[in-house]
Amino acid sequence: MSSDGAVSLSARLHERVATAIGRAGGWLPFDRVMAMALYEPGLGYYARGSRQFGALPSSGSDFITAPELSPLFGQALARQILQALDAAEADEIIEFGAGSGALALQLLQALGGRVRRYSIVDLSGTLRERQAERLAAFGDRVRWLDALPDDLHAVVVGNEVLDAMPVQLLHWDGSAWFERGVELDSDALRWADRATALRPPCDAPFVPGTTVEIHPQAQAFIRTLVERLRRGAAFFIDYGFPEAEYYHPQRTGGTLICHRAHRAEFGDDDPLADLGEKDISTHVDFTGIALAAQDAGAEVLGYTSQARFLMNCGLLELLRGADPRTLAAAQKLIAEHEMGELFKVIGLARGVSLDALGFSAGDRSHRL
Ligand SMILES: C[S@@+](CC[C@H](N)C(=O)[O-])C[C@H]1O[C@@H](n2cnc3c(N)ncnc32)[C@H](O)[C@@H]1O
Repeated sequence: MSSDGAVSLSARLHERVATAIGRAGGWLPFDRVMAMALYEPGLGYYARGSRQFGALPSSGSDFITAPELSPLFGQALARQILQALDAAEADEIIEFGAGSGALALQLLQALGGRVRRYSIVDLSGTLRERQAERLAAFGDRVRWLDALPDDLHAVVVGNEVLDAMPVQLLHWDGSAWFERGVELDSDALRWADRATALRPPCDAPFVPGTTVEIHPQAQAFIRTLVERLRRGAAFFIDYGFPEAEYYHPQRTGGTLICHRAHRAEFGDDDPLADLGEKDISTHVDFTGIALAAQDAGAEVLGYTSQARFLMNCGLLELLRGADPRTLAAAQKLIAEHEMGELFKVIGLARGVSLDALGFSAGDRSHRL
């Protein structure tokens, strides 16, 4: 995408958001703005033809995800998925937010004929084209769903999907809570707070000036998924923490983060600039995810770091005899200062009994 093209898409998106603010009476909550910035058809970050995922900024990409980093991510995860498919007597995988199709390719290659059907649900139409190209060799076994079926008998997987779901922002000024949203200042977008009855999910001695996120959309997504999961399991991998860490009083700025050209751009005011040109995400509150799943009838199979999970799934055996390049990439998946500790995996199940391989050592469910 040329910078001129990006500027005009961004300007059009800005105009769209401004119109939505006008229609809503002069103020939009942040989750509505984030949804438009990421998914507005043809204009949002995930809804344009740009190449978000890749190893290096020189490819025009903005960030790298685990399946892009190393196929060993998918190969190790495949072992967990196979165990869950067997336990559920299922032969379908459903992937949410399949990005470039890298994980789908790794899972289909690793699991061969054991997977009769691989269904992808992605909000982004442009990514769907890219996935179709990459997965063409698997023919009719791969399909794309516009809506989640009512009755699921499958193993579900999602890497870095929950972090891309719009969040609401709450601001504590020392005496009251406000919902942070966006209003117009002439033509410019600016932050504006409104009194609210919304609260963070737990009490803490919050410092005046604190801004936190709440995640009703991600939790509603999990509830719907579990309600429809008749028999199967789900594994979500993402950066995040349990509630007590998430809403720690020292975390005064929340976790909202923007990514462009492999640079993380922290800061409250960044998301409103250059709309649609950068990724906006937050960390995941895994306690909220576990509670939503349990409320809807699922069992939490386990919760642990990505490093633990992948090693429990046999990553180290897969690395035997690997060349130095492969080893270096795999190292990033499990190193504490890279993806190994910040990224977590949560496993959920309904209608199956499963002693999940990925949580066999180092399960941290008790910390949720
Ligand atoms: C950060 S990308 C991760 C892509 C890929 N899983 C990877 O690891 O490379 C987030 C993806 O989630 C998708 N997404 C966000 N919310 C979704 C939802 N509710 N249902 C399906 N896909 C969603 C986006 O369109 C995007 O493809």
